[in-house]
Parts: sequence; structure tokens; C-alpha cells
Amino acid sequence: MAAREAAQRAATLDELRALLANFEGCALRVTATQLVFADGNPQGRVMFVGEAPGYEEDISGRPFVGRSGKLLDRMMGAIGLDRTSAYIANVVPWRPPGNRTPTPQETAICLPFIRRQIELADPDILVCLGGPAMQTLLGIKEGITRARGRWFPYDTGTRQIKALATFHPAFLLRSPLQKRFAWRDFLALKHALAAGA
Ligand code: URA
Repeated sequence: MAAREAAQRAATLDELRALLANFEGCALRVTATQLVFADGNPQGRVMFVGEAPGYEEDISGRPFVGRSGKLLDRMMGAIGLDRTSAYIANVVPWRPPGNRTPTPQETAICLPFIRRQIELADPDILVCLGGPAMQTLLGIKEGITRARGRWFPYDTGTRQIKALATFHPAFLLRSPLQKRFAWRDFLALKHALAAGA
């Protein structure tokens, strides 16, 4: 409740970042070094959302700067995107201790903030990186292997946009053979952008 009210009070992304930085409703902030709010261009037409920051992200304060972030950069680059044209965030903006999976309660507390962040950034396309981001944001119960590559509607609160889920880059680092499927998803993203999605 507190999270939802706080998130709705933010009229801009800067306000939302400031609100989150002072929000005491999520215990992860106590163990994290700092808030990892976003990176890239909030005016970009695409927004990528991952699960939660890891070690490097916690140190730098920017999402996707570690090994999986480097892979994400290469995948974006392959379709002509980079951090000047895409916006990047996570469902949970604080690193869980030891990179553990965020609990359902932690995710639920952070959900109003990432929803508001998406609404304020107002991308044309939302890309969920991995099953947890997909399940949280799109409400899809299926696994990522079945649901990836399909388009889903996403209601930002202001309008309906297209959303796509694909494998998380950390998973691709462990399972490189799956990269061909992620490549298909990125090509679909490229075509949707070219078509003015
Ligand atoms: N994994 C994520 O989901 N997000 C990051 O920012 C880094 C790794």
C-alpha cells in the first residue's frame, strides 16, 4: 500500500528515483550498497527490465554492467540499439544479499515502483529479461522457454504497448546454445521497431 501510494506520487522519473532512494519499506535497501534505478535513455523506444541487480550493479549503481550486462550490450548492438537508445531497469532495484532470488514479498513491494517507472518512461516496447521479470510484469504463469518470443499486451496505466519476453543474458551465458532463440527474439524486436510498434 505504502509502495503504491509513494510510486503514484512521483510525477517524473527523477522524482521516482528520489522517492525510491528514501523508501524504507523494502529491507533489501539495508544490505544493498545503493539503489540501482536505471541506465540508458528514458526517451528510448525500448525498455529492458531484468530481475534484480548483482554485485557489479550494486557497486556501480547501474543495471546490467556485469558479465550479463556486457552480453546484453552486444545483443542490443546487434540490432542497432545501445544505452543511448534504450532504457534499462530491474523489477527489484536493490541487490538481494549474495545474489539470492528476491522473495515474492520483496518483489511485490517493488512492483508498484517498476510499474510507475515503465509508465513514466512510456516506451513503445517492453522487453522482459528472463522468467521472473516476465511473470511479475506480464502475469504469465508459463515458463520462459514456452512464452519467449511471443508478443503480449502491456497496460502502462496510460496506454497499451507491446511486450516481449526473452531469455535472461545470465542464462544465455550458462546455456550458450539458447542464444539462437534470443537472437530470434531480438530480430522480432528490431522488426517491430522498424514497423513503428
Ligand atoms: N541481472 C539482472 O537481472 N539485472 C541486472 O542489473 C544485472 C544482472
